Amino acid sequence: MHRLVNKRILLGVTGGIAAYKAADLVRRLQDVGAQVRVVMTQGACEFITPLTMQALSGHPVHTTLLDPTAEAAMGHIELARWADLVLIAPASANFMARLAHGHGNDLLATLCLATGAPIAIAPAMNQQMWADTSTQKNLLILQEKGIKIFGPGSGSQACGEVGAGRMLEPLEILQQAAEVFDYQLLTGKHVVITAGPTREAIDPVRYITNKSSGKMGFALAEAAAEAGARVTLIAGPVNLPTPSRVDRVDVTRATEMYDACMKAVEEGCDVFVATAAVSDYRPTVTADHKIKKSTEEIHLTLVKNPDIVASVAEHAKRPFTVGFAAETRDVVAYAQGKLVNKKLDMIATNDVSGSNVGFNSDNNALTVIWPGGHKVLPLASKAQIAKQLIELIAIRYKD
Ligand code: C5P
Repeated sequence: MHRLVNKRILLGVTGGIAAYKAADLVRRLQDVGAQVRVVMTQGACEFITPLTMQALSGHPVHTTLLDPTAEAAMGHIELARWADLVLIAPASANFMARLAHGHGNDLLATLCLATGAPIAIAPAMNQQMWADTSTQKNLLILQEKGIKIFGPGSGSQACGEVGAGRMLEPLEILQQAAEVFDYQLLTGKHVVITAGPTREAIDPVRYITNKSSGKMGFALAEAAAEAGARVTLIAGPVNLPTPSRVDRVDVTRATEMYDACMKAVEEGCDVFVATAAVSDYRPTVTADHKIKKSTEEIHLTLVKNPDIVASVAEHAKRPFTVGFAAETRDVVAYAQGKLVNKKLDMIATNDVSGSNVGFNSDNNALTVIWPGGHKVLPLASKAQIAKQLIELIAIRYKD
């Protein structure tokens, strides 16, 4: 089931009494971490209301192709592109026929034509309809097209007859849907990443901060999600869009970042990557009002912030812990020291003395060090470096 974490399932519901089971299927899919959007045919709406499916999925249900409001929100092409899997449950005999022959006469059929994602159907119909030669011919066409067929099961039917044609139970559908996806490097793992600077207020308009764009942490979050992980990105104040499939928690101060990280570790995380440039100190007091520039000198008293990554590494539920070290000289030696002092499993270090790497740059080069080994990741885009670092983390994490 881990393979469904973060996967985007477009659930198509067609007309049949088994449509009521689709409501349970939405819940089951969400329980294992999948994102679900529902499309219903007119026939399906006769059996179960879109409102039910909307309430369960937490998103508007799409029912018609030519609805300008729905198209403006998430148009049919966008929906088709969004999906990692189009799952039609229940799939009626009529829908199987339309799908087999490439019809585009309603929203769901059109989506099936427009998507590049795999399509799976869970047929549900009266046993005579299932056995009918037309349905069986359509089934062959669908199989030839590479459409996955889940079931149907056999047994007593809503119409009182007994035979093949029952829709599989939601749990069985879930199992088969999971098998559509391959295991990836971080399938089923929870990865928590800190990114960006923290901001420590002196007064309502002034603060102490560190130089950090957050780009490396955001690229890592994206790479981890692409490697199949559930990702929580704990971000300081940065001006970056949230990568898709990533849960973002925005924080400002180091103590807020610390609290958010501890909460995530308490709840259970497998890998923790600290890319944030956390402010080492914060003002002992924050003035309630703007400090006036009346004197030539003012004195700020600063107090040390908690070391987040070191606290994570000491936690009883310690995840695989990765730190970062941006240095301007003796890069590897300083990083080695931090690896030991902060009890890390791995540290990624970069030389930020030049302008072509680190900080606000779109490129980076890292030396990754772990107890007993190291690897140089030469200059490349932050996206490429992130992918390589995630691969290294996944390999070391398994050891
Ligand atoms: O000690 P230094 O700041 O150089 O260490 C850098 C590493 O420690 C980075 O991974 C950074 O995210 C993390 N760090 C932290 N909490 C702090 C300071 C640094 O998590 N208060």
